[in-house]
Amino acid sequence: MTKARVIVTRRLPERVEAELGRRFDAQLSRDDQPLSAEQLQRALSDADGVLTTVTDRITAEVLAAYPLRTKIVANFGVGYDNIDVAAAKAHDIVVTNTPDVLTDCTADLAMMLILMTLRRVGEGERQLRAGQWSGWRPTHHMGHKVTGRTLGLVGLGRIGRAVATRARDGFAMRVLYHDPHGDHGDTLPGVEPRATLGALLAESDIVSLHCPSTPETRGLMNDARLRQMKPGSWLINTARGDIVDDDAMIEALRSGHLGGAGLDVFRGEPNFDRRYLDFENVTLLPHLGSATIETREAMGMRAVENLDAFFAGRRIPDRVV
Ligand code: 8YV
Repeated sequence: MTKARVIVTRRLPERVEAELGRRFDAQLSRDDQPLSAEQLQRALSDADGVLTTVTDRITAEVLAAYPLRTKIVANFGVGYDNIDVAAAKAHDIVVTNTPDVLTDCTADLAMMLILMTLRRVGEGERQLRAGQWSGWRPTHHMGHKVTGRTLGLVGLGRIGRAVATRARDGFAMRVLYHDPHGDHGDTLPGVEPRATLGALLAESDIVSLHCPSTPETRGLMNDARLRQMKPGSWLINTARGDIVDDDAMIEALRSGHLGGAGLDVFRGEPNFDRRYLDFENVTLLPHLGSATIETREAMGMRAVENLDAFFAGRRIPDRVV
């Protein structure tokens, strides 16, 4: 039986690339450069399956490529806002993602951003590296206590839940959430729902975003929403950059209404609003949520399984459409 032809858009951990080579007629990425719209179209015309990442924008225009050979787009990542799933469906293309395997590491990173931002960690390290540490003193570089604070989660899906248990059990935090789509029947003990986003924002010392980027959530944290947050509170984003309105957030930081922010994701990555660089109380990370060898391997293997199941005619574990 001839192997299915699969084009892989970016470099993947060695073990994953080896597995792809064993199971498919795989074309791996040598230069690890993001593909242009034209290159993506060529891939969709040349391969039975394409393994994409967040850097590949599979839009309706890209999918208008002719002739289209691809029957499955296996996205490496739990978020799939880089893919126009309605257009994919219209072209009879299956789309899959990689849930579960990145939950822990992304939740760990959200906690890290909370700690880094409230304890002013990046700023402290920059000070030491610049040779500007004049020595210990009681009033040196005082941040804010994390333990015991009230954390508000926007979204209580897999990652939101993992953050909730870390914050509740590890940091004795009071954890609230708002999730219009969540299953409120299986709420975690001690994790309290709030019926409206406004109520959640008004009560939380720290707000952490754990919703996908959808037409409903894009620009969700706008001027009005940021004003609903407590004065001096912090915003953490490990979800997607476009959920936050950058102009509104920069204004909230400038006015001091926000005490700071921890951001792992940005609108238009790898570009980001350079104005954030002006704020020492903002922690900026280059989309590291799932960036551990264990998780990146597991994500790759999950994408391999999805491709394999599709081509073998088995049930596809992580089918999105
Ligand atoms: C990935 C992510 O690094 O899974 C997601 O949604 O944001 C990250 O874990 C990225 O999507 C890789 O494509």
